[in-house]
Amino acid sequence: MIRITDDTDIKSMTTFGLKAECGRLIEYDTVADLQQLHAEGELRNLLPLGGGSNLLFTTGRFNGTVLHCTSTAVDISAPEPDGTCLLTAAAGCTLDDLCRIACDRNLWGVENLSGIPGEIGGAAVQNVGAYGTEFKDVAEAVNCFDIVSGEAVVLSAHECRYGYRDSVFKHKPASERLIVTSAILRLTTVPAPRLGYAALANRFAGKTPEELTPAMLREAVTSLRDGKLPDPAKVGSAGSFFKNPVVSAETYRKMQSESNIPVPGHELASGEVKLSAAWLIDHAGCKSFTSGGAAVWQSQPLVIVNATGNATGADVTALESRIIMAVAQRFGVTLNPEVIHI
Ligand code: EPU
Repeated sequence: MIRITDDTDIKSMTTFGLKAECGRLIEYDTVADLQQLHAEGELRNLLPLGGGSNLLFTTGRFNGTVLHCTSTAVDISAPEPDGTCLLTAAAGCTLDDLCRIACDRNLWGVENLSGIPGEIGGAAVQNVGAYGTEFKDVAEAVNCFDIVSGEAVVLSAHECRYGYRDSVFKHKPASERLIVTSAILRLTTVPAPRLGYAALANRFAGKTPEELTPAMLREAVTSLRDGKLPDPAKVGSAGSFFKNPVVSAETYRKMQSESNIPVPGHELASGEVKLSAAWLIDHAGCKSFTSGGAAVWQSQPLVIVNATGNATGADVTALESRIIMAVAQRFGVTLNPEVIHI
């Protein structure tokens, strides 16, 4: 079913709780709906919206059309001989619902992504990740709709060119043409706990994979998140506001030699080093920074929150600029936002 409303308040469809309006809101269920909208010339000047958990409405209004998938359908195939199965989830299914469904059925693969806000469409675009798992690790293919040709298109996970919080969908021409309609994930009944993250390794030390269930990992991840991240029902935010910056090995060595305390860094397969944005923000002295109603979240400083509930987009961007400047001055590293600015 298609639902169209003009000049719509979509604040409640975002997690930051900032003023957010759009010129037109179109909600759809199926690819047939998209074909009809395409034929009617409605798919122009679009902002596809998932759970609204990674967006910052800087001015409070987007004059174009916000497109949202209301289908939450999930379909799970019969297990194959190797114990894997395919799970197809519509763009509008929330990622956490999908994690719960998979864990309830004892299927491994997405348990470490539990508790991440947002929907499958956004997860596929952004390659969301947490606790040692990224969306790309389970992605088999992504079903899309090409708003220029009006045709359905399937991209293999390889064709999605996933990187750290990055994909083909974030770059032209795909960013201007492709809407994610559903994602196909490969999960497995074979025990495959991912315990690379220290807090999880400690929690389950001494356990064999067979002694663990996806639900146990889900519970552990959820409690780790609850301890660090703001509860979206109580405090508005868009999760991690900044990406963890990646620097060359040489830059990292230089930072270490110039710092009086060790700078935490995680060496990547490429030889580059991923830094902790939270650590940089903390050690640049930004934890006490506020701007109007916006503030830094104390237990995870790479999150900017709508502390008063009345913050504006301008408050958030002013705080963002102060943090970027302070970290650049202290460490010579430029932080880049993960949150998409509208
Ligand atoms: N830290 C400080 N000061 C503090 C708090 C933390 O210095 O006050 C440092 C510590 O060194 C700590 C590190 O920050 O080790 C935090 O690292 P953690 O692994 O907890 O999280 P992260 O690397 O900062 C990433 C993702 C999160 C994801 C977590 C857990 C990004 C941008 N963020 O954060 O994703 O939940 O790992 O795997 O990659 C999101 O994308 O919205 C998100 C929350």
